Amino acid sequence: TWRMDSFVEETIQSIREKVGDGKVLLALSGGVDSSVAAGILSRAIGKQLTCVFVDHGLLRKDEGDEVESVFGPNGQFDLNFIRVNAQERYYGKLAGVTEPEKKRKIIGEEFIRVFEEEAKKIGAVDFLAQGTIYPDVVESGLGGESAVIKSHHNVGGLPDFVDFKEIIEPLRNLFKDEVRKAGLELGIPEKLVFRQPFPGPGLGIRIIGEVTAEKVRIVQDADAIYREEVDKAVADYKKANGEEPSWMPNQYFAALTNMRSVGVMGDERTYDYAVALRAVNTVDFMTAESAEIPFAVLQTVMSRIINEVKGVNRVFYDLTSKPPGTIEFE
Ligand code: XMP
Repeated sequence: TWRMDSFVEETIQSIREKVGDGKVLLALSGGVDSSVAAGILSRAIGKQLTCVFVDHGLLRKDEGDEVESVFGPNGQFDLNFIRVNAQERYYGKLAGVTEPEKKRKIIGEEFIRVFEEEAKKIGAVDFLAQGTIYPDVVESGLGGESAVIKSHHNVGGLPDFVDFKEIIEPLRNLFKDEVRKAGLELGIPEKLVFRQPFPGPGLGIRIIGEVTAEKVRIVQDADAIYREEVDKAVADYKKANGEEPSWMPNQYFAALTNMRSVGVMGDERTYDYAVALRAVNTVDFMTAESAEIPFAVLQTVMSRIINEVKGVNRVFYDLTSKPPGTIEFE
């Protein structure tokens, strides 16, 4: 029978044979696939691997630090870790931009630029590693080549600006659940291994309209509260019933509407933003239903967000199915 520990061992062996004493470069997004690719490459070739992690300032709350704590110098993996703090750069490029497709394009192009600059500093490498998994290979129909970068920021094509000889894709025969198992086997924390899907453009497409540092702070804080409360409710349910609740969402997050409205806080009249909560049940993310999160959980989340997140005075729950809605807001 097929065993995960033997998959990991065999892959480590074949990476060593292929790479020899060569240098490998990997764009680490902090997502499941690139994290597991980083973990297995690190075990195989240690410091011959360099991971570039671009923090675009559109990650979820504390996520950049979490990635650094796992893969950075104080983490458990032996590799060269480069974190690029490009937050201000991205906010500058996004200032005044409100059109969804334009925002996506700017975020994707800026990723290429930042990655290119770092790749130039590193110089020629022998291999460019990709976290391509089997469904990417099948979907692209091109042996995975168009899945490059796309998996990070949805910009097609091979990064021709990186000076490398060959692509290395250690996960290209694995399905998602197998990638997760490999991640656990490698000792990557569960929090990262069971991470929700998160779009390449990140919070950039969960902030309707213009992206600003202030709006990022608001949506990060609201989203962290929402996920914390849902996770707690799910854990409590499991403890009491021995199984997941029927409403267990496959993806859940907060977004920031571009709407401000009048409210009242103490004796003060407020004019603040409305946060939208989204939670969906879905099998393939192509169609989805709004998840029936218990009303009491939503009430707790609403009251915590309004009390703890400055700049928010209203909370909505999104009931829209996909279609006609999408899961994300832009
Ligand atoms: P939509 O909004 O299209 O989302 O219903 C379906 C699923 O895809 C994710 N998503 C993305 N993932 N880059 C990604 O890697 C993107 O640009 C992107 N846009 C949406 C979304 O989170 C959901 O799981």
